[in-house]
Amino acid sequence: MVNKTLFQCPNCAKPLKRGHKQYFCSNGHCFDIAKQGYVNLLLPGHTGTGKPGDTKEMIRSRREFLDKGYYQEFSDTLNNMVLETLKTEQSDSISIFDAGCGEGYYISRLKQKFFDNNINNLDMYGIDVSKSAIQYAGGRDKDIHFAVASSYHVPILANSIDCILCIFAPRDEKEFKRILKPSGKLIVAAPGPKHLYSLRKFLYDSPDVIGQKGTVEEGFNLLLHKLVSYSITINDKEDIFNLFNMTPYSRHTDDDAENKLKTIGEFTTEVDINIRVYQKA
Ligand SMILES: C[S@@+](CC[C@H](N)C(=O)[O-])C[C@H]1O[C@@H](n2cnc3c(N)ncnc32)[C@H](O)[C@@H]1O
Ligand SMILES: [Zn+2]
Repeated sequence: MVNKTLFQCPNCAKPLKRGHKQYFCSNGHCFDIAKQGYVNLLLPGHTGTGKPGDTKEMIRSRREFLDKGYYQEFSDTLNNMVLETLKTEQSDSISIFDAGCGEGYYISRLKQKFFDNNINNLDMYGIDVSKSAIQYAGGRDKDIHFAVASSYHVPILANSIDCILCIFAPRDEKEFKRILKPSGKLIVAAPGPKHLYSLRKFLYDSPDVIGQKGTVEEGFNLLLHKLVSYSITINDKEDIFNLFNMTPYSRHTDDDAENKLKTIGEFTTEVDINIRVYQKA
């Protein structure tokens, strides 16, 4: 069976169709589907030097931490906002694209939320530049189209997406504007000023205040803004280490602080996340 998709060929920008084993365009470019169901659409020129995106260890830690439910309250708020934003959508199917989707926690929970509300006409896509992330994501849900690709070269057709999610991930507003339908929405989640403050205080004596993040300047109008704020208590050593390991702090912390963190049995820290919904101008 051959299916239409909203992916575009990274070589020639023609639509990609999905066959049994490959995605292909009308110019004869083909991309194999991996056994986890994802496709690699990242061209060598689409990354900088080195291995792109988060490492396998960071991704594994993030998956284990998120699956324990510590960020579920944030995910639930996000899901309600997406549902509220899209419920009046008239199109045959609702197309949702998660840019920098990581290991797929948020988009797969969003799909479940729509299903729970009897909305099944979904066409969902997720990309991440990290192959390890997309391998995990593909394992989570075979009905979501996952691809290894960069948010700076999005392999999605112009004017095709109802809603873009960008959660703690890099964004390219020009690309996002290109792929959104005229009525399309961009939903950005980014750390608020107090996000993980106690963790940062533990690791660095005087942590920097997190400045304004997640605001989109050009080509979009802000429709809605919510700050999700609560605290989490983690009383499992492995979970505490996973939280540390999934953040950028794991790359910028000295061994002493890291070793001290490993001895703690219980830790309480803040979750403080801004969610902003934008409409394409
Ligand atoms: C902090 S993680 C957030 C992942 C996921 N959205 C979540 O919240 O669980 C940032 C993600 O962006 C990905 N990333 C980094 N550069 C990227 C790029 N140019 N294009 C797409 N994804 C990128 C990383 O590999 C990583 O998975
Ligand atoms: Zn092509």
